[in-house]
Amino acid sequence: MNDFTFWSPTRFVFGRGVTDRVGEELAKLGYKNVLIVYGGGSVVRCGTLDRVKASLDGAGIAHVELGGVRPNPEVSSVRAGIELAREHDVDLILPVGGGSTMDAAKAIALGARYDGDVWDFYAKRAVPQDRIPVACVVTIPASGSEASDSAVISNDELHLKSGCNTDLNRPVAAFMDPELTFTLPPYQTAAGITDMISHIMERFFSGAPAVPVTDNIACGMIRAVMDAAGRVMEDPNDYDARANIMWVGTLAHNGLAGIGLKTPGAGRDGDWSCHGLEHELSAFDTSITHGAGLAVIFPAWMRYVWREHPERFLEFGGQVFGIEPIDPAIDDLSEIDEEITPERAIEDAVEATIDELQDFFVSLGMPRTLGELGITADDIDTLLAGLKINKGERFGTFRTLTLDDARAIYESAL
Ligand code: NZQ
Ligand code: ZN
Repeated sequence: MNDFTFWSPTRFVFGRGVTDRVGEELAKLGYKNVLIVYGGGSVVRCGTLDRVKASLDGAGIAHVELGGVRPNPEVSSVRAGIELAREHDVDLILPVGGGSTMDAAKAIALGARYDGDVWDFYAKRAVPQDRIPVACVVTIPASGSEASDSAVISNDELHLKSGCNTDLNRPVAAFMDPELTFTLPPYQTAAGITDMISHIMERFFSGAPAVPVTDNIACGMIRAVMDAAGRVMEDPNDYDARANIMWVGTLAHNGLAGIGLKTPGAGRDGDWSCHGLEHELSAFDTSITHGAGLAVIFPAWMRYVWREHPERFLEFGGQVFGIEPIDPAIDDLSEIDEEITPERAIEDAVEATIDELQDFFVSLGMPRTLGELGITADDIDTLLAGLKINKGERFGTFRTLTLDDARAIYESAL
């Protein structure tokens, strides 16, 4: 087990009706004047925004608001939020929404306490030193932003989507009411499930050796979310399934799933190549949903790199799907007319594992190919240009990838 620091300072308030307790809980924590941030209107239509505002009013907490944050949030709405936060001298930023809203809120929180332009943090020209605290009302389980140290912002002018990782990004509180997620369209539910599984896999496949305690937590969470996914696709109002998915979404990305898996010299507790490859897709076309991009990229990356550490794929396939390599000492091979070498047995087991994972994503309604997302071979040069800026010429810890490798992975997914 490699050395680790695990810091997850967020207070989680979880369950039915917690939306109506936001004001009371925030007042207990001493907040008096908040900036509410929300997205394209789902929280208005569902009544969530009114419930949150009524709860703040009931607790005597003043509030101003910024709506209209789009999926793959743009830096212009962050700048508008910074103005508002300063003008009203707020003591908390309160996103009500998903990863896009939460990330915009986190960027506002850092930018409001910085003299320069907030994009400096995303261009890695400046390191954040201070922030206004953030508390989240989560409406979609996916990004894990409610407990993560990360925020991802798009800059349309520069055609970039970049992340900023700092412990200052970790929210002080998260209100998680699974009933709010009943209204999610199936595509968003599926993309969220794909994203949270990807957050676990980025860490599982970091290249570090097995850490049984973390590996069991990781694979157990994936089994739980896969089981709940089936139930929620049948019945969107299945509270228990929604609740399990929501909590896995948080634990997938608060650091728990990466304990002991950070490789020496790596900046983060995982490989994160697939997230890098995906962010170029949703930067290129901001209508691409992050989780849908990952559903295509992750299996393609796996097929390209698995030979670097086959033992991790065998562990994953065994724990998540019950797939074991054929063993001539145990298995009946009388029906198989070719020779099964140990190498061939491993290859078959790994390929079956990747196939199962991809088929699961597709069964939820996620795409299998880049073509389904509207990406063609002609677009790959543009993707690689952004990747070079965001990730450099070499990246990844499971296997170090060059930009030529990235091209091959994109091409294999067309
Ligand atoms: O904008 P509104 O109208 O609210 O609609 C949203 C949006 O269209 C809708 N939605 C959310 N909750 C709903 C709902 N519709 C009905 N009922 C509800 N309860 O869902 C759509 C997607 O929302 P969004 O916030 O974009 O989803 P998600 O949570 O998947 O966030 C995606 C963003 O997070 C980033 C992604 O790159 C992407 O920009 N990520 C952030 C991370 C982090 N901060 O740690 C990690 C992730 O890897 C990811 O990169
Ligand atoms: Zn993600």
